[in-house]
Amino acid sequence: MFLSFEGMDFSGKSTQIVLLRQRLDAADMPSLLVREPGGTRLSERIRDMLLDRTHGEMDEVTEFLLFSSSRSQLVREVILPALEAGTHVIADRFYDSSTAYQGYGRGLPLDDIVRVHHLATHGLTPDLTFFLDIGIEESFSRRQHRSGEIDRMESASRDFHTRVREGYLALCEQHPGRIKRIDGERPAEIIANDIWSILQHHLSSDSTEGHSA
Ligand code: TYD
Repeated sequence: MFLSFEGMDFSGKSTQIVLLRQRLDAADMPSLLVREPGGTRLSERIRDMLLDRTHGEMDEVTEFLLFSSSRSQLVREVILPALEAGTHVIADRFYDSSTAYQGYGRGLPLDDIVRVHHLATHGLTPDLTFFLDIGIEESFSRRQHRSGEIDRMESASRDFHTRVREGYLALCEQHPGRIKRIDGERPAEIIANDIWSILQHHLSSDSTEGHSA
């Protein structure tokens, strides 16, 4: 089983991933966690390039291809071997992030993006994707309360982040079977219950879209 989590910055993905993995462990379904961009030696180096705030001149096509390169390496080196060994994999972001951020956010042509996804994922699609949805105001208010530096992507404008969220909402409409929108402005335990019940429902029904490589 291959699951991915998506959402705006500060949407609470990391918390939900921790809670889901605890439940999977308790159900004797241990999982491997990967994060994008990153997760392999090369992909972590690409991550540093992508998030470095001094790289303000980065062209949006360069940005997209770097995210895609990081993804390809992660799929080949880590995700596919794990799935082949029967391990469940949870991805903290996958190619829907590029569609939302580089496609809708930066305005790159969506048909080109989809073609590169196919190449960079080696044909792999998540079985189920949880989109943790929070409003722009909530995202910016959580950002203000967070300590530490913000990275290059996080420092993009409010308009950019508004387009990213609209992109995610469009993706939910285009892939209703795979991508589940979760209201991320509720208490963490309630959200975790929702995610768990959607997963249970998915496991007990036949689903066709995901996980072919
Ligand atoms: P990260 O610190 O991992 O953020 P988060 O905890 O929110 O996942 O930084 C990843 C940033 O890169 C985040 O702002 C989203 C962005 N991103 C893209 O723009 N395109 C992509 O394909 C991916 C995977 C991430």
